[in-house]
Amino acid sequence: MWRRSKLAAVACLVCLCVSLHVAVHAKHRKSSDEGKNRQQEEQAANEAQECVPLDLEALEDYSYCKLYELVCAHQDTLVTHDYRYSFANPKRELVPELPYVDIWNFPAALEANTDALRGRQPKYHLQFRAASAHEPTAALRNPSFSNCTLPVLLAPEFPFNMGEFFARAVSAVHGLALDPRVTLVLLTPQSLGLAPFHSLLMQPYSKYPLITSADLGARGCPVGQERGGRRRVDNEEEDTDWQDVEAGEADTVPAEQAVAWSPDESQPHCFKRLLYCKWDMQARVGVPLAEVAARVVEAMQAAQQLPAPSLVYNGREVTDEEPNDPDHDPRDPVQLRVLIESRHGPVRNIKNMQDLLEACEEADKRGFSAGGFEGIACAATSFSDASTGRVSRSRFLTNVAAVRTAHVLVVVHGAGASNSWWLRQGSSALVELRPCQFGTKYGSWPDKYLPPQHQKSHDRIRFFALNVEDPEQCQNGDIEEGLFNKTIAKGSLTWDHSYFARDKHLRLKPGPFLGFLKHVAELLTPYDTEAYAAAREADRLHGYLLPGGGLVLGKLGVKNATEWAEDEGAEVTVYNDWGGPRY
Ligand SMILES: *[C@@H]1O[C@H](CO)[C@@H](O)[C@H](O)[C@H]1NC(C)=O
Ligand SMILES: *[C@@H]1O[C@H](CO)[C@@H](O)[C@H](O)[C@H]1NC(C)=O
Ligand SMILES: *[C@@H]1O[C@H](CO)[C@@H](O)[C@H](O)[C@H]1NC(C)=O
Repeated sequence: MWRRSKLAAVACLVCLCVSLHVAVHAKHRKSSDEGKNRQQEEQAANEAQECVPLDLEALEDYSYCKLYELVCAHQDTLVTHDYRYSFANPKRELVPELPYVDIWNFPAALEANTDALRGRQPKYHLQFRAASAHEPTAALRNPSFSNCTLPVLLAPEFPFNMGEFFARAVSAVHGLALDPRVTLVLLTPQSLGLAPFHSLLMQPYSKYPLITSADLGARGCPVGQERGGRRRVDNEEEDTDWQDVEAGEADTVPAEQAVAWSPDESQPHCFKRLLYCKWDMQARVGVPLAEVAARVVEAMQAAQQLPAPSLVYNGREVTDEEPNDPDHDPRDPVQLRVLIESRHGPVRNIKNMQDLLEACEEADKRGFSAGGFEGIACAATSFSDASTGRVSRSRFLTNVAAVRTAHVLVVVHGAGASNSWWLRQGSSALVELRPCQFGTKYGSWPDKYLPPQHQKSHDRIRFFALNVEDPEQCQNGDIEEGLFNKTIAKGSLTWDHSYFARDKHLRLKPGPFLGFLKHVAELLTPYDTEAYAAAREADRLHGYLLPGGGLVLGKLGVKNATEWAEDEGAEVTVYNDWGGPRY
């Protein structure tokens, strides 16, 4: 008796209860035999519903995923009990190396991509080894393999960039069409935690909350013990423990508290099967992202998660009382609503937002008219918290609701542009601003993201690039500026001119900006992309703001817009301050 409780105490002392703050379905334990029997019956019945069918053959077929059998998870290590890798097997195969997350940037609490700050991190993967003579926990020494819980480990590139995560990992998981009873596990390098967007974007694909690889490998919490136990520093108990094992005494595995990510009665550490999925940079997943986005928004609406947003369009407070009703559209079908992302932080800000908002209101008063729209209203919104640069869970949901009040979303190139996926499909547009030379000299970079993604999604959200090539409308970002004025150490930066171009601030002349919005409105007939597609064919879809303040329409991939306009004899339009023609 003394030993039992002592063992349990030791087990608890070493347990770190990383309990997920999500309600676990109550799993009552009855003490009477009668209760036990009934419970077993219920359990058997539930199991059929809660367990992922143990169909190994089907799991062999997932592209980009590899199936491993009889695997335990402990901290950042997977331990295989598969006989093919066992040292007892005279024909032993070597344990394979698990694929790496090759490229990722450190998620600093800054509203900037840390690639320009030497934030690129070493590649990372989980360790993979055979079961040994020295396993660290009772659960690993006496493995009981869950045939119910199926962990699917996801190891995407750029895990902390929302745009990349959506386009690579979420779309890939969508494409796998997994059983919703799998447990999705994100490999977050260096024991980092999840960002709120990870969980919200993966929500449609599993009935369980998304967890990290660290959560999967966490020690369990014995039943009846709460967190807060202190860790032992000496190894006396463990030595006794080992002597007992050698003497043939069973090594008791304490029953552990259930976890929210598994239907098992006790936290599972070992699994009959586990999928490890890796999409490298070349992987072409192929699902149109608009389809994935629709699924994500639908799940948020079904769970009534979207809050009523509050925005100020042309000085007037606007909301959407029914953000979770898929059939409700709060927009005035006639007045063009434009939502402009307002960024803070060291890079890519629009420095004269107030000028743009005022010019927009003025244009509305002066009879803005384009396509089917009469009138225009603009609002500014930030997608992250101004003081921390973080996007909390509630902020993320507010962003989704906010963009759905607009016809047009305007953002400076970056992960914020991924919010375009939550726009109302068929009747909305994205305008992506590219600072000086980023859309021309370095244009192959931004051109490979959103333009083909939206085109492959059948233009359900119409993409427009506005390339700002007028040096008067661009301003060095703080990182570049700090380098030149020697307030930032050279050694702390990645010296790359494409980063500097991307990270410039903008000071847009309101007239040509509004002139471009007119062009967008003309090509925004709801549920009819014919004119839009024709403009793309005619190389008149995207805009270039030229030195001197003129606007020329063109195609993507133009290296020097001034030269291109001259060579093509393209029309350069000049505007007054509210987007009217200037004669
Ligand atoms: C899991 O294993 C138990 C016993 O080992 C068995 O009774 C049960 O049917 C299995 N469940 C599934 C889903 O294969
Ligand atoms: C250097 O540039 C940074 C970024 O623009 C600015 O915040 C800082 O005030 C500048 N310092 C000096 C000494 O000019
Ligand atoms: C584009 O071409 C024009 C005319 O040849 C030249 O003056 C200008 O400097 C070029 N712009 C850039 C950004 O290279």
